[in-house]
Amino acid sequence: ATRKIAVLVGSLRKESFTRKLAKQLMLAAPPTLELEIVDIAHLPMYNQDDETDTPPPRWTEFRDRIRDVDGVLFCTPEYNRSLPAVLKNAIDVGSRPYGKAVWSGKPCAVVSNSPGALGGFGANHAVRQCLVFLNMPCMQSPEAYIGGIANKFDGDKLTDESLNGFLQQFMECYATWVERHAD
Ligand code: FNR
Repeated sequence: ATRKIAVLVGSLRKESFTRKLAKQLMLAAPPTLELEIVDIAHLPMYNQDDETDTPPPRWTEFRDRIRDVDGVLFCTPEYNRSLPAVLKNAIDVGSRPYGKAVWSGKPCAVVSNSPGALGGFGANHAVRQCLVFLNMPCMQSPEAYIGGIANKFDGDKLTDESLNGFLQQFMECYATWVERHAD
């Protein structure tokens, strides 16, 4: 059986390295995973006052999309040693109303990246901190902190073969992780 995986990208800019990396992870994945980027750019900022019988349609749409998948792959850049607001907002939107979080139990993995040397370590672990409360089984190993990302692409094309090998290995492990936590 194939498993549906939502890919969340924590950057909105057109030439985002995080998005390029996410697309590369999708290519590197084994065929048992069906990965799709779920848009988070247009989610209205979470406001508890809007949590009525008729919440913003984009919240409902997003919650339905996530409810429908078997797992989640978080791809994030680092903003001020933490996760970008757009990704945190998506996590928050999916976590409510209380007791109805769409995240619970979904096997996930976190990939961070940066043009810098630390590979977004802070962002990676800031996401992981949310996952504890959301009760999402997160693959612990291998970890993915991809540094020097600006030197790894020529346009949209990944030019670093050893990184590609690592991404394939990472996605193989994630597929196993998803199977272990399926149903
Ligand atoms: C950054 N950047 C950054 N990089 C890093 O390694 N650690 C950090 O804490 C930060 N902080 C930070 C804050 C803000 C507000 C911005 C806009 C940027 C740089 C960041 O890694 C770089 O812009 C990446 O290219 C962003 O990812 P995308 O958009 O290429 O996916």
